[in-house]
Amino acid sequence: MARMTMEEKVGQLGCFADMHRPFAADVNPEVAAQSASEVLAEVRAGRVGTLFNGVGAALGREAQRIAVEESRLGIPLLFAADVIHGMRTVFPIPLGEGASFEPELARRTARAAAIEATAAGLHWTFAPAVDIARDQRWGRGAEGSGEDVLLGCVFGAARVRGFQGDDLRAEDALLATPKHFAAYGGAAAGLDYSQVDISAQTLRDVHLPPFRACIEAGALTLMSAFNDINGIPASANRWLLTDLLRTEWGFDGLVIGDYTADMELIAHGYAEDERDATRLAFTAGLDISMQSGFYRDHLPALVAAGVVDRAQLDASVRRVLELKDRLGLFDNPYRSLDPQREADTSHREAHEALARDAARRSIVLLKNDGDVLPLRRAGQRIALIGPMAEDRDNLEGCWVLFGERERYVDLVTGLRAALEDADALTVCAGSGLEEALPGGIDAAVAAARAADVVVLALGEPQRYSGEAQSRVSITLPPAQQALADAVVASGTPVVVLLRHGRALALEGGVRDAAAIAACWFLGSQTGPATADVLFGGYNPSARLPLSFPQHSGQQPYFYAHPRSGRPELPGVTEFKNRWRECTNAALYPFGHGLSYTTFDYGAPRLSTSRLTWDGTLTATVAVTNTGSVAGEEVVQLYVHDRVASRVRPVRELKDFRKVAIGPGETVEVGFELDRRQLAFTGPEMQSEAEPGAFDLWLAPSSVAGEAVQFELLGPGVE
Ligand code: GLC
Repeated sequence: MARMTMEEKVGQLGCFADMHRPFAADVNPEVAAQSASEVLAEVRAGRVGTLFNGVGAALGREAQRIAVEESRLGIPLLFAADVIHGMRTVFPIPLGEGASFEPELARRTARAAAIEATAAGLHWTFAPAVDIARDQRWGRGAEGSGEDVLLGCVFGAARVRGFQGDDLRAEDALLATPKHFAAYGGAAAGLDYSQVDISAQTLRDVHLPPFRACIEAGALTLMSAFNDINGIPASANRWLLTDLLRTEWGFDGLVIGDYTADMELIAHGYAEDERDATRLAFTAGLDISMQSGFYRDHLPALVAAGVVDRAQLDASVRRVLELKDRLGLFDNPYRSLDPQREADTSHREAHEALARDAARRSIVLLKNDGDVLPLRRAGQRIALIGPMAEDRDNLEGCWVLFGERERYVDLVTGLRAALEDADALTVCAGSGLEEALPGGIDAAVAAARAADVVVLALGEPQRYSGEAQSRVSITLPPAQQALADAVVASGTPVVVLLRHGRALALEGGVRDAAAIAACWFLGSQTGPATADVLFGGYNPSARLPLSFPQHSGQQPYFYAHPRSGRPELPGVTEFKNRWRECTNAALYPFGHGLSYTTFDYGAPRLSTSRLTWDGTLTATVAVTNTGSVAGEEVVQLYVHDRVASRVRPVRELKDFRKVAIGPGETVEVGFELDRRQLAFTGPEMQSEAEPGAFDLWLAPSSVAGEAVQFELLGPGVE
């Protein structure tokens, strides 16, 4: 530090697109784009701390050599990238993995991604996204774990542990970055980058807990969000980045701004100009500026003028150097830059198998009337219809930069491989993704009539979700809806397979089909995983991590909402909390998912109905597999605080467990509960549980089960 010039110090606080080894030719064309030679010149001058979204061990090694051997102080570079759900092997989108209700699975896929990413010359991933998304018009729910806070916490923490592994200095340790700090999923009207106007209590009870969980799991960096929070942009929000994060939470890692988020303070109307934006972002606590170049261009003068405190600058620079040291880069600057390790693909078969298992564990069986599923591998004429039937361009989801696309296995390939007689499968697109095909519907109806069962493969193009992909209507494209209406009207039983990056409002023939499966975007092993479920090779076990509404107009929609003062009552339609067009129930609720077997729940049993202030309550339920095949059930524990100083959600998930149960078997599933899980942020911003009566469910979804009651006693009361 003492030897560093101001320019070298500020250089460590800059992160730029890695044009030396870009993942695509036209990447970052709009902002401060530099040629490869300019980037290397900046590295040689010691004016860059981190490069991002470049890939390749050999080229990375070359840039690192320049940094270490040709710059004045030889400070190694950090190489970062958006490795969100897989690197070469692509796993289901994080929202899909959330449906598995298996955080351990997410840890394993993150670990596999880390092995592949570090082999490709990366130290740092800008993941996991832990935004809580409750308005499905917003496109980035695809990158998170759905609408529920507990899922957001446990999946975020699992991914941090998976990416980072047990030793950050290991060759295959990938630094994680929970994002986007904070409340990015609360964008008004689900419109990406819009204002976030929420109560301080909602901020603390809904949007912040996943970040806290990730930090407790070992996260050392956070990425700030584009949005404002109640009028103060997150990337220059001193209360958020310093008072809460560092003073209240004691976070000693660093915060990197999202892409040009500091520059965007000007557009927000929060900063006068570049110099003002630099001052506001840096003094608020934003350590690293991404891509704008503002810190490089303006921090030296701000420090010289005494506007920015030199000690604060040194503190940020030290955080970056300490981070590099914790990753072992000062001892081994060429760690994760071994072309031999990149060439070694011995891990790939294991990762493909993991991708297949993760994908089939993410498929939610929403409906299965008449047990039309599972299908038979022989003796059944199957018509595979729809634009997703042979599609290879919409397998990976909205945010995959480095997937090995030639290894992806599409739906038709997966189905053919599963059939004893592949010729028994007829395939017909019927429509395009967004446009009708001349004669497409007629051909599809003919194919349906000639078949015993139809598999109708529909969905959103993957470009409909992800960043800046908000939709005013969360329905299928009209051309696909017309195809579905016609095919279902043919009378042949229809199994709809949906591909999507958000909850969808299902209509007409899609909604009326005999069977419906929510398949998200499943990645490299889409075909085999889907076939495993379709033909019963795997009994579907996933549950919805978000609510499928009846209608787009119900957004924002989430199960953990407070009860209205005029709640809907059965049969009473006037002056109640409902729409003209529909009740305010979900078509398919949070936590819902079917199996090829059935499960019966006994009544929940509590170790006590009087939970003392410092006590623990055990809730147990007997779950019986009443069907003929083995299956996995996700037992969900919900509570409701009946009377409190702020109105409380009608249900909140407080724990869950997926259990495998053989046919005819009964298992006892128990959970412990204490008052910490009942705490919430009150009117005076106190975070505490309140004594009183609670309902508790042990149930298969957020609308099922019978409640039992318990009372939380006050301090000192027995
Ligand atoms: C993007 C995204 C962020 C990503 C970053 C770098 O705009 O908001 O999630 O990590 O830029 O690519």
